[in-house]
Amino acid sequence: MIDFADVIIDVRAGDCGKGKVAVQLTKTNNYTHCLRFSGSNNAGHTIYHNGKKIVGHCIPMGIVNGIKSIIGSGCVINVKQFFQEIDSLEKNGINTKNLIFISKNTHIITDLHIEEDCKDTKIGTTKKGNGQAYRDKYDRKGLRAEEIPELKPFLIDLYDEFHSKSNNVRILCEGAQGFELDIDWGDYPYVTSSHCNAGSATLNAIPPKKIRNIYAVAKIYDTYVGNKQFQPKEEIFNVIADLGKEFGSTTGRKRQCNWLNLDSMVKGLNHNGATHLVINKCDIIKDVGVYKLYHENKLIEFKSFEELQDFIDFVCYNSSDLLEYIYFSGNPETIEGFEV
Ligand code: IMO
Ligand code: MG
Repeated sequence: MIDFADVIIDVRAGDCGKGKVAVQLTKTNNYTHCLRFSGSNNAGHTIYHNGKKIVGHCIPMGIVNGIKSIIGSGCVINVKQFFQEIDSLEKNGINTKNLIFISKNTHIITDLHIEEDCKDTKIGTTKKGNGQAYRDKYDRKGLRAEEIPELKPFLIDLYDEFHSKSNNVRILCEGAQGFELDIDWGDYPYVTSSHCNAGSATLNAIPPKKIRNIYAVAKIYDTYVGNKQFQPKEEIFNVIADLGKEFGSTTGRKRQCNWLNLDSMVKGLNHNGATHLVINKCDIIKDVGVYKLYHENKLIEFKSFEELQDFIDFVCYNSSDLLEYIYFSGNPETIEGFEV
């Protein structure tokens, strides 16, 4: 039986530090399972664990704290990359034995999907075959994990796992990408091919009523990777990108930067019903010493970080009725004031 499930969701265009939030939550909270519920190895989740930089792509980051980790039915998976990721975690001293599982109905990314994705010039995809695997799933031509012999030792049935086998199941659901990349609510066609919202966690054998907290993640400035023009032509955004190490952990591409769009972030909070909001990379903007954001189609400048913070608090708490806590974080490893 499921006690509850908490969900981590990025409310911008990805790369806001979902992995860090997952590691913090699994360190102190009593979860029995971690679940990746959408996306594939198009994601890149960088965390700092015991002073080491670790990058995950399809396996939930809760694995670093020894939590049973599942790739859910809402994901698509590249088999070769899955085994490489296990090797890389083990090389970094993370024990994965008997801890990593795949839902048997998760769909597979094939070589043909990747070949086709590599021809993309329009969207600026990660070239991982993600969209093509989802297309074939919905076209009912897909291949499922249960059909791949090498994956047999990892397969589980999500229903049995959460509802019949064990008691007191407490799941941390880790999202991928970000709400701005959601197939329906993002800036179509510059989106990914899955639903990057809290609701899609429930498609992995988790009843909506069991969802407890929804942790939204953002950055104090915005970034985007892909083919649309996003970064204004001002040198300061290159400074932010360099200081913030805004280079993709999956493709190495430079992320385009801009000031935080507060209204679009509030939309993300409300669409997803966020109860908690973590705003990362505040140290970077303090180093730059310029404090700006977009609100009601205007660019607003603040005199100090504290003024910027007060404004964000005011707008978010007044616009999002479910929001209980906002954390401003400037530390790559921890979240200041985070009580779980
Ligand atoms: P994480 O989980 C940022 C972007 C790609 C491209 C678009 C479609 O690390 O936050 P796709 O390969 O999904 O078909 O590409 O989505 N994209 C991401 N951008 N973070 C991600 O994941 C992303 N995953 C995909 O750059 O614009
Ligand atoms: Mg990333």
